[in-house]
Parts: sequence; structure tokens; C-alpha cells
Amino acid sequence: MNISSKSKKIGILTAGGDCPGLNAAIRGVGKTAIVEYGMEVLGFNAGFLGLINSDYMELKEAQLSGILTLGGTILGTSREKPYKLVAEHGEENHKPEKIIETYKKLGLDAVVCIGGNGTMKTADLLSKEGLNIVGIPKTIDNDVWGTDVTFGFDSAVQIATEAMDRLHTTANSHQRVMIIEIMGHNAGWLALYSGLAGGGDIILIPELPFNIDLVIRNIEKRYEDKKPYSIVVVAEGIEHPKGQSAASYMAKTIDDRTGIETRETVLGYVQRGGSPSPMDRILATRYGAFAAQCIAEGCFGTMVAMKKNELTTVPLGEVGGKLRLVEPGLGLIQKARKMGVSFGDEE
Ligand code: F6P
Repeated sequence: MNISSKSKKIGILTAGGDCPGLNAAIRGVGKTAIVEYGMEVLGFNAGFLGLINSDYMELKEAQLSGILTLGGTILGTSREKPYKLVAEHGEENHKPEKIIETYKKLGLDAVVCIGGNGTMKTADLLSKEGLNIVGIPKTIDNDVWGTDVTFGFDSAVQIATEAMDRLHTTANSHQRVMIIEIMGHNAGWLALYSGLAGGGDIILIPELPFNIDLVIRNIEKRYEDKKPYSIVVVAEGIEHPKGQSAASYMAKTIDDRTGIETRETVLGYVQRGGSPSPMDRILATRYGAFAAQCIAEGCFGTMVAMKKNELTTVPLGEVGGKLRLVEPGLGLIQKARKMGVSFGDEE
């Protein structure tokens, strides 16, 4: 046990969209902090709102037992951005001050912020105010800059892949084109990985602008080649007219232009729900335990990260405001192209 950190008091919060593995991460931080370092642990409710409103609960070992496999987050979450008013409108905004007040009033030594890009940006600003902050990256989008992987992604890939497996059989029976819309406004990681794992014929992601004529030609060619059905995977953030989903736009366009019966599925929040995959449980646990170690060692203003399968830290200042997007030259994309997968951008 690290005696010097025996009396430390730390907070944990989960912010932004939820994802499988949040409870595994809370458990990883909390158990390590309590068992290994003898710290006191508080859980803040509903993301940064908990810090603003001093809304928290004490987390003892008992509260951290039995939550490893639970989806969602026992702390709740919100998309509260405490610095937003000042940044966007210059309005009077006392939220950051309230957070600092809570931090001081409760005698906190550090706060672990579990979240995605937006959370890391807020975490960095709080760190610059002088609070001791450690970030943990999570999101099904896998787009947090500074780490090779976020927890939540593997579970979402699994869920989306299973959905695609099921679409194949019904598409085959009816000889239809099936469109499946996968989450990801800016980053196409989830559509790309689940699309490849689920045997998608055409995969459209925001990072690779598509040409609709090439998509149509590809579907018609498959039909001419006696391929009875097609699976088209679209990320929700691909270019499409406002007022309709990416899937609706694509289904209507393909149906109208090819005359082949086309149906759409928007997978939606199912991708974020339920129990984390074993890989996400392990990743979230490793991140959590490492974050507790970072606090014990005084390594603040950082986000824990995985690089080349090694745990490391990156300064929060380098992470905030950036996105890790799919690079068009990615080896996986090149390999898929060679197997005949279309990304709608080449003949
Ligand atoms: O960032 C995770 C994510 O699920 C995105 O893939 C999706 O676009 C977004 O959150 C949905 O946000 P909300 O929960 O606010 O509807």
C-alpha cells in the first residue's frame, strides 16, 4: 500500500453519451483507489452537473461490487458543458466557479473524468483552473484523440455486427438491398469495423466522401452478377439532405434509381446499451486502475491512453478539441477494397 496517499479523497464522474463499460471503469478506479491506496471515493451524479450542484454519493467497496457487467452508468451522465455559455455567448457563467467551490468544500485531491472528446476538453479547462484531473477515454465512436482505443467501441461493434448478420438472412430471402445506419457523426470507425465484420458490401463513412452514382452502379452490377442481395452500411454522419436520416435518404435513392426493393434499419441507441463485451470490461478495468495509480503518483492534467497495447498518459491539453478520424489510407480500407468492398468513392 502507498502510505503517502492513504488519506486522499477523490471524485469520479461519467459525462457525455453513455456506453458499455462505464461501470467497469468506475469499479476499476474505485476498487484500486480503496484497496491499493486507501483513498476515499465519491461518485458525482450526472456528469459535470454533479460537481456544479455538489450532488454526489460515497462509493464504498460494497457499491462497487456487482457492477462490472452492468450497462449504463451507476452515476448517471449528462451532456452538461460547464464552460459553454462563456465560450459561445460571453454570458455570465458561474458554473466553473461552482465546480471549484465543490472541489474545495469537499476537500478533494483529484477528480477522474470518464468521457469522450467534449469531456476531455472540459477536463483540460478544469485542470487549467488548478484542479487535479485525470481523464479516462470512453465512447462507442472510438474517436478520442491521443489513444488507439476507447472502451465501449468493442461492445458496439459486436452489437452492430450481430444486427448485420441478421439482416443478411432476411435480405437474401427477399432479394433486397438492406441499408443499416450505424452511429458516428464525424468518425466512421464503428461503421467501418462492424461493416467489415458483418460482411457489408458497401460501407459509407464521413471520412470518405461518396459519389451516389458509383453507389448505384455498384448495386446494379451486383444484381447483374446474380448476387441476390446487398448490405449497405452507412454512418449516420455521411452527407445527406437535412430532415431525413442517412438511411432513409440512401434507401429511397437506391429504390428509386435501381428499382430494387430497398429497406432501411436505423440501429440507434441499441448500440450503446447493455452489458460490455469481455474486451471492454478488461480495457475499462485497466484504464480505471491506471487512473487511480496516476492519482497516487500525482500525474495530473492527463488522460490515460492505450498506445500500441501499452498503457500510457497524454496531456489533456493535447487531447481537447481534437478528433481521431479514420484515415482514408488505412491498411484495413485498402485490404477491404482489394476484396471488392466498395466505399462509394471509386469505380
Ligand atoms: O458519441 C456517442 C454517440 O452515441 C454518437 O455515436 C451519436 O451520434 C451520439 O452519441 C448521440 O448523442 P445523444 O446521446 O446526445 O443523442
